Amino acid sequence: MTTVVLALWLREATTALASVADQPRMEARRLVAFVCGWDAGQQIADPGRPLSLHQQAQLDHALQRRLDDEPLSRILGRREFWGLDLSIDGATLDPRADTETLVDLVLETYAADAAAPSRILDLGTGSGAILLALLSAYPRATGLGIDQSAATVETARGNARDLGLNARARFEVGDWLNGVQGRFDLIVSNPPYIPTGDLPLLARNVREFDDPAALDGGADGLIFYRRTLTEAAAVLEPGGVLAVEIGIDQRDAVAEAAFGLGWSISGQRADLAGIPRALTMVRLA
Ligand SMILES: C[S@@+](CC[C@H](N)C(=O)[O-])C[C@H]1O[C@@H](n2cnc3c(N)ncnc32)[C@H](O)[C@@H]1O
Repeated sequence: MTTVVLALWLREATTALASVADQPRMEARRLVAFVCGWDAGQQIADPGRPLSLHQQAQLDHALQRRLDDEPLSRILGRREFWGLDLSIDGATLDPRADTETLVDLVLETYAADAAAPSRILDLGTGSGAILLALLSAYPRATGLGIDQSAATVETARGNARDLGLNARARFEVGDWLNGVQGRFDLIVSNPPYIPTGDLPLLARNVREFDDPAALDGGADGLIFYRRTLTEAAAVLEPGGVLAVEIGIDQRDAVAEAAFGLGWSISGQRADLAGIPRALTMVRLA
């Protein structure tokens, strides 16, 4: 291997990344920042920096993973969500921009209502993305996040610590609402909602890099909505709100299940593509 300078590696990586990335130059710079610890400003200021053979080998390895369609967030082990910098490990769902729609809907709901929620429960919390976004928006709120994966719960706890939210956020391993104690003003959830039969049809960069347990919503994709709608009333304060993310084309099926189990839809929000993506519900009197 011959010595390569930063500018040359960036140029070649950018050309290669154009086949998989919308912003290949930015991704090449982020790989350099990750491997070498040089931020974009340092890279721009000193494009002639030589790369050590070790750095070169690591960069080429990271580049190859990306060219094999692994999401950049998986390679970096980090994802920005709602302006929060979150760590994600192998078992933790990579939070999606669409899920910010759920956070938007909650904020809109309580902006109209004036009274912010003070106790929040997040079912299937993953990296803690939704709960931590809401705790940063509501500085007096406390929250509990539940997930079936112990590794994921550790990741969420680490994220809470890194963001200085750990005094107000608790994360526990659990099976959905089983064993959840206490009462909450707001329950949020982005549950697994892909019908089992559709899992093999997902894009490779989802299928191979997200844990099936984070995606599989049973035969019709609705198992976790039914569980939530059946069990949540026991821990939701009277007048409390249930806010869920939904998959494409699930709006009517989730609404029907909700009506059948004693809830009414109180709010809805579409994602940037115009697809209904989040619903709020309240108990029918
Ligand atoms: C779609 S992911 C959502 C993760 C995170 N809330 C987000 O929006 O990025 C669903 C989460 O539910 C968790 N999960 C699946 N089955 C569960 C169960 N029975 N009890 C608790 N959590 C479960 C998965 O581990 C996964 O983290």
